Amino acid sequence: MLNPGDIIGILGGGQLGRMMALAAAKLGLKTHIYCPDPNSPAFDVTPYKTMADYEDEEALQAFAQAVSVVTYEFENIPAPAVDFLKARLPVLPNDNVLKVSQDRLSEKAFFNSIGIKTAGFAPVDSQDDLQKAVETLGLPALLKTRRFGYDGKGQKFLKTPQDLINAFEEIGNQPAILEAFVPFEREISVIAARNQQGQVVSYDIAENVHKDQILKTTTIPANIDEAIAAKARQIGESVATELDYIGVLAIELFLLPDGFDNRLVANEMAPRVHNSGHWTEAACLISQFEQHIRAVAGWPLGNTERHSDCVMTNLIGDDIKERPQLLENKQGAYHSYGKAETRDGRKMGHFTQLSPRSRP
Ligand SMILES: Nc1ncnc2c1ncn2[C@@H]1O[C@H](COP(=O)(O)OP(=O)(O)O)[C@@H](O)[C@H]1O
Ligand SMILES: [Mg+2]
Repeated sequence: MLNPGDIIGILGGGQLGRMMALAAAKLGLKTHIYCPDPNSPAFDVTPYKTMADYEDEEALQAFAQAVSVVTYEFENIPAPAVDFLKARLPVLPNDNVLKVSQDRLSEKAFFNSIGIKTAGFAPVDSQDDLQKAVETLGLPALLKTRRFGYDGKGQKFLKTPQDLINAFEEIGNQPAILEAFVPFEREISVIAARNQQGQVVSYDIAENVHKDQILKTTTIPANIDEAIAAKARQIGESVATELDYIGVLAIELFLLPDGFDNRLVANEMAPRVHNSGHWTEAACLISQFEQHIRAVAGWPLGNTERHSDCVMTNLIGDDIKERPQLLENKQGAYHSYGKAETRDGRKMGHFTQLSPRSRP
């Protein structure tokens, strides 16, 4: 259990690390951000920082000595860095969680092993494997790299047999997975949290719309039945419990149209705070960031209830130029990540528009 003033180490210095650091500060805890990138947005808001590679054992050693516990804002931390740190102090969530979620194949196998449905899938390690996998799973399908994918990167949508030609090469000749296309009605996500005492909570289910495979909006409440919402929350909470998880996690789900037997299909899991949970900052008493900090600090979890309905819109690239109008909006909260350089497709900030809570 951390005490006020104790230091939480955070691996990764993007906007998620930045928002975790802000939440920690609000709770009277301090953060130490570790990130190789000198322009990390999180460096602006943390009292302690290390700018070093994840392979730099000297820097990792000093970091381990300076903090009480380590957490992270991204799942692709090199395994040796995690091994090095966990031999010295707690790394939360645990490293098994990272092993499961760093690889789309182990992630899907894990979901299936605890009775959660996924798209049909097959490992693909060559163009030959791909042909065979398509024979079994059919088209359309998605070819995805097993590791390091985000915002649709490392993926190829296969619609016709012609699309298969060179597809394995096009995603970089690396270990991959073929996924059957899921004809979803909508995309939703659940944000759950579990603490060291085993207390588990989840937030209201969010409905997500992607544009160019990047999250564009999250709407709460999702336009789904109560029973589906309850089932989705249960999926989040059971995954947290199964993994002996400490912190906040997100699971992206596909909702199949009415008429399908099992309408919820897990897409992927993020062992961290998640973009589809940014709305909690403006529409809940306790945000996902604060919840994560509470969990890794060994503190009790907070209330996840929403006080308002809302739509969170990502400000991507030039969207951030809408700042003057957004600041005039009296029902919304503008949040900028303070990134110096605006680039196409880069998440620059978000805006959460509130409205009175409509239903339970
Ligand atoms: N098997 C699938 N069937 C249908 N749509 C998919 C499938 N996999 C991914 N997508 C679409 O692509 C988006 C990004 O894919 P995802 O696996 O979540 O990768 P990322 O790591 O880039 O978020 C999803 O949110 C969904 O809209
Ligand atoms: Mg995704």
